[in-house]
Amino acid sequence: MSAAGSLVVDGLTVRFRLPRAEAEVRAVSDVSFSLAAGECLALVGESGCGKSVMAAALLGLLPANAWIGGRATLIDDDDAELELVGAAEGVLAREVRGRRIGLVPQSPAAHLTPVRTVRSQLEETVRELLRSERAQVRTIAEGVAERAAYPVDHLDRYPHELSGGLAQRAAVALALVGDPWLIVADEPTTGLDRALVERTADELRRLADAGHAVLLVTHDLAAAERIADRVAVMYAGRIVEVAPAAVFFGDGPRHPYARGLLAALPEREFVPIPGMPPELTALPQGCVFAARCGSASTECTKLPVLVDGVACHHPEGVGCG
Ligand SMILES: Nc1ncnc2c1ncn2[C@@H]1O[C@H](COP(=O)(O)OP(=O)(O)OP(=O)(O)O)[C@@H](O)[C@H]1O
Ligand SMILES: [Mg+2]
Repeated sequence: MSAAGSLVVDGLTVRFRLPRAEAEVRAVSDVSFSLAAGECLALVGESGCGKSVMAAALLGLLPANAWIGGRATLIDDDDAELELVGAAEGVLAREVRGRRIGLVPQSPAAHLTPVRTVRSQLEETVRELLRSERAQVRTIAEGVAERAAYPVDHLDRYPHELSGGLAQRAAVALALVGDPWLIVADEPTTGLDRALVERTADELRRLADAGHAVLLVTHDLAAAERIADRVAVMYAGRIVEVAPAAVFFGDGPRHPYARGLLAALPEREFVPIPGMPPELTALPQGCVFAARCGSASTECTKLPVLVDGVACHHPEGVGCG
């Protein structure tokens, strides 16, 4: 694992230009958070709120129509900094992707090469990232597969022969090969049954406990509760709350949107948040959640900033109305 002490994201912003359109897609707006070695941060929020775009931005994997601003800095133990935003493609390819940051992509089947077996793709990644002796490549590949709960006797399958869950685990294995310091896992448990969700989540937790950092992008709040230290809630491209997991799943978050997200769970109140998120091409001036919020007031026409982990003019909880 390459030595790194933390990831500091500051004001990260991503816009997409649309062909023949005046408006742009404001996919990620002024996102700031930090992540230290040994920590797992869960990033949650409704579909389309910008989670995967943010993950792609960290790895320099945005498409050509994207504009990116702000900073995302990897800081080594010895305080050496590597700025990810605007880094040259050569640096990202040689030093970042797979080595310092491993990505488990959201649609793993689309990222596997269709004409090659999982074994051959894993072994190639082992050769490329670890420069291992020929004799060791097979053993290392099988070891990584096992850690990712990918059955070794299915390694000779082609991607089209994999279930969604197997493709998911193959993607986790590929992300682990280079022993990256930061693992960005974008919905790594989709399509898995509960036992495999828990096994995959527990492997991510083990990695954090071993000194890695884990950014878990997920819709699965049970998986987040199982392994996350902190939970960041994203809404319409913004982080509206960051809370310790024990508080988030205990007393509850303070932002009305975050509270609504939890209350919508079948095992809780099972009450959906009324309304729909705003179009990212037509975001309101002030609080992005105001139109759906029961506590909204005239103050909410001003954009709230993140104070004590919550961006809201009327946060619930101690000392607030
Ligand atoms: N290349 C692109 N050009 C224009 N808009 C894009 C592009 N890629 C993503 N978007 C838009 O950015 C927004 C955020 O998408 P993103 O995939 O990050 O959502 P998400 O939070 O990961 O959702 P989900 O939970 O469904 O995975 C969406 O409105 C999406 O349509
Ligand atoms: Mg996504």
